[in-house]
Amino acid sequence: MARQEDMEQENLNEEVTSVGEFVVVPGPITSTIFIEARISKDWSDIWELQEALQARLSSPDNDSAVEVGDDIMVNPDASVTLGQLFETYKDIIESLKVVEYVGLETATCYTLNTVTVKLQAYQLYDTEREEDTAIPQAESSFMPHVRFDGQWDELVFESDLKAELIWIMTNILRFSQRSGAGSRDINPLILLYGPPGTGKTTLCQGLAQKISIRLNSSYKQTKLIQIKTANLLSKYYSESAKQVDNIFTTITRMCQDDPERFICVLIDEVESIAYSREHSTSNGEAQDSLRATNSLLTGLDRAKGLANVIFLCTSNMVGSLDTAFLDRCGLRIAINPPSNAAQYTIIRGRIQKLIDQGHITSEKSLPLYDEAYIEYRADGDGPMAKIGAKILAILQLINSGNAHSSRGISGRSLTQLPELAILRYLRGEDCDIDQALDFIKRFVISQESQTVQHRGHKRTHSQVDEEFGR
Ligand SMILES: Nc1ncnc2c1ncn2[C@@H]1O[C@H](COP(=O)(O)OP(=O)(O)OP(=O)(O)O)[C@@H](O)[C@H]1O
Ligand SMILES: [Mg+2]
Repeated sequence: MARQEDMEQENLNEEVTSVGEFVVVPGPITSTIFIEARISKDWSDIWELQEALQARLSSPDNDSAVEVGDDIMVNPDASVTLGQLFETYKDIIESLKVVEYVGLETATCYTLNTVTVKLQAYQLYDTEREEDTAIPQAESSFMPHVRFDGQWDELVFESDLKAELIWIMTNILRFSQRSGAGSRDINPLILLYGPPGTGKTTLCQGLAQKISIRLNSSYKQTKLIQIKTANLLSKYYSESAKQVDNIFTTITRMCQDDPERFICVLIDEVESIAYSREHSTSNGEAQDSLRATNSLLTGLDRAKGLANVIFLCTSNMVGSLDTAFLDRCGLRIAINPPSNAAQYTIIRGRIQKLIDQGHITSEKSLPLYDEAYIEYRADGDGPMAKIGAKILAILQLINSGNAHSSRGISGRSLTQLPELAILRYLRGEDCDIDQALDFIKRFVISQESQTVQHRGHKRTHSQVDEEFGR
């Protein structure tokens, strides 16, 4: 019976087309849907549940349709998609998210039995923030960790940067696992660089979180080690090189002790230990930093032979980085300030979060960018303007003004804007969406005038300086 079903499925999947005398048989299905199942931390046998879910979701008779971004558990058809598993595990599976589609189709909806389903089940660690005793200059977390939950989804980038980064990291690790790190030509080192507040650090933490879920069958444990670079030079002044050396020795030992553990090292603001040696001066501090850079370079060379480690580095001073360090970066990826559509999506997400938390009331839903753009084109920012048009008008105000640097507004400023504006102007308990948008607009205008005044002051000072011939 099972065989007959298999055959029917094969026929379904492999429609045979005749072209003249030739028979063209399409290849096997290559499209893949990735689904992540978040399991309650009280559940003990996560692997058994992963297997059961995998079997159900990839069953040939499962013709449920899913969209990327869906949480199958909150879908009204969840009991159909999951069959009997739904009743048994509905309190155990906290979410079942469709996170990625890889394939040629560009549809928004995919039928499960026409694609390959890859399911990863995971539980979030909720351990305290730990100072690793083995590496006192770092903070370590077992991944995936509750501390980083949701961060990844909140990050908005124009291109498919997030998915691309997951694949790059997955590929580096797979290549190393398959052929051994010794045969690898590139350093397992990715540098994310760009202006402040563009999401570099958050992206690295999110990547470690996602990889720990995606590769959970290859690695039984993932650890994120965040090096406190700023401390290295100040706290351990004059012995930073030794500290950097110790860090690499410990990481090397950790990787060798347990090849089934994946270690993701985040070196945030790497310029503090990879400052260009050409620009160094000869004072004591600079000499210390120079020795630290040398240790970093040797440490990275040593780590090249390890198959289960990846270094993620961030910098907003890429121009000051040592060329030998830059040369060792397997990949250098520019992270730019958000585009107009990304700005809208970021601010919309934050307003929605405040609505979900009950700080703003709204009976209207917040439109997506395309719809907002149509609203804005139709009505502008007049008294009758709809929510989307109002948000776009605020962004227009920000982008045309002086209240941000010439590099464009950062994701950080946008993320904080709605909450800051409400905190500043709310006088009472309730805030509806129209009020909230007025507050945000007022806040932007006030920032704007402060910037202008600030510049005016500066000018006055320099005029005074000129007057006194300074
Ligand atoms: N593209 C973005 N989408 C959504 N949120 C963003 C984006 N960029 C930044 N943020 C938010 O801004 C805050 C700061 O981000 P983060 O610290 O990762 O920036 P950074 O690039 O590391 O900055 P810095 O160079 O100053 O260290 C975070 O809360 C992050 O979620
Ligand atoms: Mg940062």
